[in-house]
Amino acid sequence: MSGPFHGKRILLGVSGSIAAYKAVELASRLTQSGALVDTLMTHSATRFVTPLTFRGITHRAALTDLFDPDSPEAIEHVALAQAADLLAVAPATAHLIAKLALGLADDPISVTALATAAPLLVAPAMDAGMWEHPAVQRNAQTLIERGAVIVGPDEGRLASGLMGRGRLAGADELLGRIAQTLGANGDLAGCAVVVSAGGTREPLDPARVLTNRSSGKMGYAVAEAARDRGADVTLVTSAGLPAPAGVRAVRVETAEEMRRAVQEAAASADALVMAAAVADYRPAFPSARKMKKADGGDGLSLALERTEDILAGVPDDVVKVAFAAESDDLLANARAKLRSKGARLVAANDITLTGAGFGADANKMWLVDADGETELPLLPKYDAAAAILDRIAPLIAARRDASRRPVQGSGEPGARRRKPPAGEAAWRR
Ligand code: CTP
Repeated sequence: MSGPFHGKRILLGVSGSIAAYKAVELASRLTQSGALVDTLMTHSATRFVTPLTFRGITHRAALTDLFDPDSPEAIEHVALAQAADLLAVAPATAHLIAKLALGLADDPISVTALATAAPLLVAPAMDAGMWEHPAVQRNAQTLIERGAVIVGPDEGRLASGLMGRGRLAGADELLGRIAQTLGANGDLAGCAVVVSAGGTREPLDPARVLTNRSSGKMGYAVAEAARDRGADVTLVTSAGLPAPAGVRAVRVETAEEMRRAVQEAAASADALVMAAAVADYRPAFPSARKMKKADGGDGLSLALERTEDILAGVPDDVVKVAFAAESDDLLANARAKLRSKGARLVAANDITLTGAGFGADANKMWLVDADGETELPLLPKYDAAAAILDRIAPLIAARRDASRRPVQGSGEPGARRRKPPAGEAAWRR
């Protein structure tokens, strides 16, 4: 097993909100993903969910009482705090957020928050009026200023039956942000990476499109894997999948919309990974009204025109990765694409294999670069994405070093300096 949580030591703080039951799913998914999860509960949290529930799921006793002389976990809580890779408090009540902001220490979560040097992620859950209260907002702001990551709360139906902002962020969002926080100092920290995903859709008339079988899963996996190594990720997507947490998603439909969005994002990026299946042709004369059978008679021929090559149109000083999904002559085609697109790497896969490629959760790829080709085993798409990033991370580092070096003769810093990434603020709610 691999992935962002494998072997990580996560402290899960659960405080007394009705959303405490949702922490059970979080504990379960983290444990299933290979994390070692220790649950810290306030006394009021134990009134919503029992410590036994967390013990059953994480196979580790939940810490509920620091003064219990019979609890080995209570005695070792400082060691737990020191070994932790991350402390996630989900749900965090207004009261607990206030304690964290003030540095009070009278329950397993607040004590551990002071004892640990690990990053802190806080997922508030409370009534909307409480969340909006200036005292709570001030406390949350204090935590942000100290480097904590606040996730949510989401808008929606609250336990009171009213609508508003106060719901605990969803499990996918929390897991994504935990993975991102764990990898914040990874080898792509501070790098801007653009990823494209999905099959483009070219309108034929208001009801019909020309498209392909790409699900977008491979591009999403690349976006997540880059995020989990610290990159600032822009995902230009024509797939209908929900955007990964912590990634800036730009929704597009046609090849031309994708071209414009990729061009714009790539102008300040270090790398571009073109996982999208872009239409090479689009209907030359899309109809403004729905076509009728009578328009075509017994047969219909469509006039198509070429779309522009998006990857080839991005300057070669960006580290570019092409994908090549082929049914014949895989490696010869991949080598040709390496040259014609100005790419540094081609991820090639044979679409005739079953269990890999379109729509599947695994991929069997060859990585082709100027030095030759490497065959990868059948891998989950996240791991296949990580293999691609392993190859381009040194190229990105070299590019960034070069742009920092003075231009010869002028003494000025390099011409192509990157704009600072939009940063966390754009992702925070
Ligand atoms: N690509 C692109 N713009 C296009 C077509 C493709 O940027 N208009 C990118 C794809 O995202 C992929 C790579 O180019 O990363 C190869 O795409 P593919 O469709 O396999 O190759 P084509 O260039 O279309 O060549 P061919 O049709 O001959 O296979």
